[in-house]
Amino acid sequence: MGSGAEMNEQELIEAAKLAAKAAYAPYSDYQVGAALLFDDGAVITGTNVENASYGLALCAETVAIAKALGEGRRGGLQMVAVTGPEDKGDGSPITPCGRCRQVLNEMAQLGGTDPQVLCVGKDEVRRVQLSALLPHAFGPANLA
Ligand code: THU
Repeated sequence: MGSGAEMNEQELIEAAKLAAKAAYAPYSDYQVGAALLFDDGAVITGTNVENASYGLALCAETVAIAKALGEGRRGGLQMVAVTGPEDKGDGSPITPCGRCRQVLNEMAQLGGTDPQVLCVGKDEVRRVQLSALLPHAFGPANLA
């Protein structure tokens, strides 16, 4: 993290890459890291967590959001970085799966933010707003 300076995109991406090193992905061998930046400067990371019962795998973004909600955060989500292995696929940016988009939306909508999602690829970072990944989202506001 830069000395006293606000965390920048590259630092958030590095946090996601570092997190991915701890991924528990023995079945897919596809290590994913997610890093969430909050408006108070806090960064909360997650990795995918797989299970011998394959279908129970949890994605990195979902784990990160669960950690943040479990720590009492309710909104303030500004930016998200997601990284996958650089040697898999065609190297194009990894984007959150459909379920993770919904899970990210929960935190975003609680605080009324539309976080930028940094989808990291081998040679490119795709920047996209969550609202573009999940338009017309259903969320907590619908139940209020
Ligand atoms: N995965 C994530 O962690 N995030 C995504 O957005 C896509 C997929 C994980 C789930 C599984 O552990 C592995 O990547 C392969 O699908």
